[in-house]
Amino acid sequence: MTKLLNGNKLAIEIRKEIAKIIDISIKKKKKPLPHLGIILSGTNSSSITYVNSKIQECKNIGILYSLIHLPENTTENKLIEEIEKMNQNPLIDGFIVQLPLQKYINTDNIILSINPKKDVDGFHPENFGKMSLNMKAFYPATALGILTILKKYKIKISGKHTVVIGRSRIVGRPISILMSRKNTIIGNSTVTLTHKNTKNIDFYTKKADIIITAVGIPYFLTGKMIKKGAIIIDVGITKIKKGKKFFLKGDVDFNSVYGKASYITPVPGGIGPMTRIMLIKNTVIAALNRI
Ligand code: GUN
Repeated sequence: MTKLLNGNKLAIEIRKEIAKIIDISIKKKKKPLPHLGIILSGTNSSSITYVNSKIQECKNIGILYSLIHLPENTTENKLIEEIEKMNQNPLIDGFIVQLPLQKYINTDNIILSINPKKDVDGFHPENFGKMSLNMKAFYPATALGILTILKKYKIKISGKHTVVIGRSRIVGRPISILMSRKNTIIGNSTVTLTHKNTKNIDFYTKKADIIITAVGIPYFLTGKMIKKGAIIIDVGITKIKKGKKFFLKGDVDFNSVYGKASYITPVPGGIGPMTRIMLIKNTVIAALNRI
């Protein structure tokens, strides 16, 4: 039987824990509430959806947020100007620049402009490098969400073979590093990082104990590509139009995997809510560092 890894339920539990910390360490001490900045550049409809759900999470937990929404034709300089304002603004504890950016904008330049102390996405090389070396830093929210859900469901990853599909800075690269780090509770996995240029990808996926897929291609991972009892973490979210309605689809062909996998994260309700709550957690940590 396949069990669902319920991200919605776990995110609610974590939300309560974070709300308690805010209450005791911030509200009772009459300190300013944690404040997340969000910079959204352009009109990518998936990015707008993601940002709206991050704002909703701020509202749910009762922290402050400021959204800067720049038009589609924004220049790289204008974006860096807005980042500099967030860097300098003492009221903003941490902020993110929603990705992807317009093609003509150099994402590396943008990320390098963010003050690492406010980089609650954990994408700046200072945080990313520290994460790679197992040092304290802001870690990317999706990777944290995956580790947290695996830990909550007591899924042992030490010594297991994990296959990651996709090498983005947002998911694939950080999670491959964190799954293989030296840590008996949530690490010590043997990781194979696969991507667009990997030939015969099912050669690897069929051998995997854990598969983490983040390619954004609906129905990409099918039952035939996995071994019996595999643990499937589906990070892909693609908006699909059926008639007049939109649906969210993961990378996994859920019906063909269901029954063969031992655990799977559903889409929606798996890694999405975990990512959002981990971003809030990072923001609260940034606020506590300020205090
Ligand atoms: N685009 C998709 N996921 C993310 C994320 O976690 N952070 C940012 N900044 N952009 C994203």
